[in-house]
Amino acid sequence: MQPKNFNYETPADIKKDIDLFGIDLKVSENIDVLRNTVDVHGFKLSNSLAVHPMEGCDGNLDGSPGELVIRRYKRFAAGGAGLLWFEAVAVVPEGKANPRQLSISEDNVDSFKEIFDIMMEEAKKANGNDHTPLVIMQLTHSGRFSVPTKEHEPVIAYHNPYLNQKFNIDESHPVITDSELEALEDKYVAAARLAKQAGFHGVDIKGCHRYLVSELLSAYNREGKYGGSFENRTRFMLNIIDKIKAEFGEDFIVATRLNMYDGIPYPYGWGVDKEDFTKYDMQEPLKLVDLLYDRGVRLINVTMGTPYYNPHVNRPYDKGGYTPEENQLEGVARLINGAGEVQKRHPDMVVVGTGYSWLRHLAPNVAAGAIEDGKAKIIGFGRAAFAYPDFANDIIQTGEMDKRKCCITCSKCTELMRAKSFSGCVIRDAKVYGPYYKKDCMK
Ligand SMILES: Cc1cc2nc3c(=O)[nH]c(=O)nc-3n(C[C@H](O)[C@H](O)[C@H](O)COP(=O)(O)O)c2cc1C
Repeated sequence: MQPKNFNYETPADIKKDIDLFGIDLKVSENIDVLRNTVDVHGFKLSNSLAVHPMEGCDGNLDGSPGELVIRRYKRFAAGGAGLLWFEAVAVVPEGKANPRQLSISEDNVDSFKEIFDIMMEEAKKANGNDHTPLVIMQLTHSGRFSVPTKEHEPVIAYHNPYLNQKFNIDESHPVITDSELEALEDKYVAAARLAKQAGFHGVDIKGCHRYLVSELLSAYNREGKYGGSFENRTRFMLNIIDKIKAEFGEDFIVATRLNMYDGIPYPYGWGVDKEDFTKYDMQEPLKLVDLLYDRGVRLINVTMGTPYYNPHVNRPYDKGGYTPEENQLEGVARLINGAGEVQKRHPDMVVVGTGYSWLRHLAPNVAAGAIEDGKAKIIGFGRAAFAYPDFANDIIQTGEMDKRKCCITCSKCTELMRAKSFSGCVIRDAKVYGPYYKKDCMK
C-alpha cells in the first residue's frame, strides 16, 4: 500500500483506514490501561509508559554526559513515564557510534551517578515522592557502525554484501576474531558493574539495529564458535548475560532491546522470511526469547529494522530519506504485532512496544488497544519523547496527548545525527535545536 501522511483527527478516523487496509491493530477509546502499574522484577512502575533509548550524540568526548544530555534526562524524568530506557552507552570507547556517544568507564562513572541522581530528583520534584522511574542503561558496541573519532572504523562480525556496499567496506576488511569477541564479553560485564555502581536499576544488552550483538545474530556465514549455527550466533549475547547474572544474581536487572526482524535478505538478515525479506519469520528470534526467559530475563524492549539501511522499518515516518513502498500503518503494525508475538509467547514477561510516534495524538488509543490485546505491557515513545518529553504526564492526567506538542515524524532529529550534529527535536524544541539544524543540515 502506498504511504499516506498522517491526517487523522479522531480514533474513529484512524480506525477507518485500519479497517479499510485490513490491518491488525486495535484502537481503543478508553486509555485507562496506560495508567496500570507494572511490576518489573519486583520494581513497581507507576504507569505503563516508557521513554525509549534516544541518543542525542551530545556527550563529552570522554564519554560522560554533557550539558544537553543532562537537560534531556531532566525533561524525560520530569515527564512522568514509569520507565526511562537510558540511551546507548558504549562499553569501550572504540565502540562508539559517534565521537559524542556516551561511554562508561572507571574514570567517568561518577558523572553517570550524577545524572542518575538528577533523574531521581527531577522525577520526584515533578511527580511526587511516590514516583520513582525504573532506569535501564543500554550497553552497546556499535560494531560495523563505529565512528569513535572522526573516521568510520567498522568492526565487522562477517562480510555482509548489503551493508558492506552501503558503507564502502571491501572484502579485505578484517573480521573481529573469536578471541576479541571473548574479551569484549568481559567489557560488557565491566560496564554493567559500573552502571550498577552509578545507581542504575539494570542494563540492556543491546541486541538490535545491527550493532555488534545484533549483527552476530545473523552471522550465518561466520566461521568459528560465534557463527553458523543458531547456538553459535547467539553465543555472544547469551555469554554476556550469563556472566552478568552470575555476578549480580537477582540484585540487578538484565534486559535487552531486541530486534525481532531486521529486513535484510537471508542469509544476511535476522528474523527474515527466507523467500521474502519484507516479511518477518519469528522462529529464531522467539527461540532466542525462550533462552532469555530461561535465564531469568523478564524485560524485553522489542524493535526492528536497520536504521542506516531501512529506517522506515525502524521508525515509520512521513518525511525521510526515501519513500517506502508501504503505508506507514503497515510499518506501525509490524512493530506492534512483532512485540505481540513475544508478549503472547511469555505472558509473564514485560514487553515494551515500539513504533508509536507516527501515531501522534492518537498513539494513546492504539497503545491502549495493544495492551488490551496482550501485545505489550509497556508502551515506549522514541521521537515523540524528543518532541514532547512530558507526554506521559499528559496521557495519565488528561487522557490525551496535545496535538501541538506531538512529533511530526519529519526525520530532522535523524538528519542532525547523520550530520554529526547534536540531535533533538527541531520543530518542538526549536530554540535549542533549530540553530544546530541551520548550521549543520542546511549548509
Ligand atoms: C535520533 C535518534 C536516536 C536514537 N537512539 C537510539 C538509541 O540510543 N538506542 C536505541 O535502541 N534506539 C535508538 N533510537 C531508536 C528509537 O529508540 C526508536 O526505536 C525509534 O525511533 C522508533 O520509535 P518511535 O516511533 O517512537 O520514534 C533512536 C532514534 C532516533 C531517531
